[in-house]
Amino acid sequence: MIEVKWLDSAVFYEIYPQSFKDTNGDGIGDFRGIAEKLDYIKELGCNAIWMNPCYDSPFLDAGYDVRDYYRAAPRYGTNDDLKALFGEIHSRGMHILLDLVPGHTSWEHEWFRQSCRAERNEFTDRYIWTDNTWEAPEGMNALIGLAERVGACGVNFFSHQPALNYGYYKPKPDKPWQQPTDAPGPRATLEAMKDIMRFWLNMGCDGFRVDMAPSLIKNDEDRKGVIALWQDVRAFLDREFPDAAMVSEWGEPDKSLQGGFHMDFLLHFGPSHYNDLFRCDRPFFGGGGDASEFVKTYKENLVKSGGKGLMCIPSGNHDMYRLAKYIHGDGLRIAFAFLMSMPGAPFVYYGDEIGMRYVEGLYSVEGGYERTGSRSPMQWDSTENAGFSTAPADRLYIRLDPDSGRPTAEKAMADPGSLWHEIQKQIRIRTEHPALQSRGDIEFVYCEKDSCPLAYVRGGGGEKILVVLNPSAKPAAFECGLVPGEAIYCFGGGLTAKAGVITAPAHSAGWYIL
Ligand code: GLC
Ligand code: CA
Repeated sequence: MIEVKWLDSAVFYEIYPQSFKDTNGDGIGDFRGIAEKLDYIKELGCNAIWMNPCYDSPFLDAGYDVRDYYRAAPRYGTNDDLKALFGEIHSRGMHILLDLVPGHTSWEHEWFRQSCRAERNEFTDRYIWTDNTWEAPEGMNALIGLAERVGACGVNFFSHQPALNYGYYKPKPDKPWQQPTDAPGPRATLEAMKDIMRFWLNMGCDGFRVDMAPSLIKNDEDRKGVIALWQDVRAFLDREFPDAAMVSEWGEPDKSLQGGFHMDFLLHFGPSHYNDLFRCDRPFFGGGGDASEFVKTYKENLVKSGGKGLMCIPSGNHDMYRLAKYIHGDGLRIAFAFLMSMPGAPFVYYGDEIGMRYVEGLYSVEGGYERTGSRSPMQWDSTENAGFSTAPADRLYIRLDPDSGRPTAEKAMADPGSLWHEIQKQIRIRTEHPALQSRGDIEFVYCEKDSCPLAYVRGGGGEKILVVLNPSAKPAAFECGLVPGEAIYCFGGGLTAKAGVITAPAHSAGWYIL
């Protein structure tokens, strides 16, 4: 695999395009709105963007139900507008990943319409169909009764998302409709997906975040089949687009990295214990939880993946509750001091930098269900609709946080003590020290069950930096032979070090040169 250099110092910002900035008053965000706010993102310190799906779609799952992979959704703009956005991003020295949804399409996709036909055609094998209308593929929900052809079509997520056919790792002999991965149907699906990647990479995007990356091949318990599939994609990228960056929604870094991804997310589902830190009854950064299981799993992952590739920890995303639902005030600052001092590229979910809240009690919008409250419009300023849109309030994509004290970017930027400024400072310092960046190494020096602080040493570029995080309400001490030097970042007071014991004040975070 060819390394993508800019990932070494990348700090991503996730944009949910619907809710970011509307420039034509239709109540929904658009490409021009994103272009207008690039300087804001850059000022925060982020130098890369992941944008959620922006393709033509009936939007029953916010765009994760693609109807035409080659066409920007008209509500966001045209393909030319998107190309212009790529230009604006690159002219600022920034990069952008599009969201690739390879596992399923919308049931309105032309491939699916063709695949439903009784008469054999090019798309007959594009999706996973059984040969019996009354039998769903094992382990999957299915669409039945929509097609002229006989059979049930497997779905990956919602009922309107038929599963594309990349084949079965171990097809069962008594189920001839389970095609091997090298059968013509699955091969054609994969080639079609490569064409889509080619199209957008040629237009100027810098890579992809890949939706549900491990799910493509069925009956593939150890993921051997899907690893081979992604290695095939990797070979294609190395040949044609060696600079394209790939991050997977997978959650098993050793496997995704073997598959040729540069980065994998540690997610709120799967074995990562991510939620222990940020989203549970007693999250570690809320002041009183346990980080030890997270650290244990993280270390195991480091060993399994041989230190190669990047494990990326997001502040949140469009699928989980907002960080600020569980963690407040100083806790948020300390949580970001963690995110900005860990290896891998950090991802900031839009609005998390101003402490945007999870909006309770919303009806589901575009298949959001409980996720809807994390997808509300970005709060820019104190003008109408928080500066998101000039549409009447009842025409906004999702209702704004109704709280009169809701945070806004304008207030946050005007207040030197805000979370926004804290994060800006953290990113700036991260950017000045390779040891703190994506590829610097990490050694945990203190992390005990149910206790504080969390301490680790980052190393790289000839430097070693001690990070000590104490989100609890009491000073926290630990035995340690290290002698902390200059504080390059300090929130909530500095360390005291005496006779091999280091003490961190309550609610504090610090990064120290060793
Ligand atoms: C991923 C996306 C999520 C979507 C699902 C189905 O998990 O992040 O938003 O609903 O895949 O595509
Ligand atoms: Ca708009």
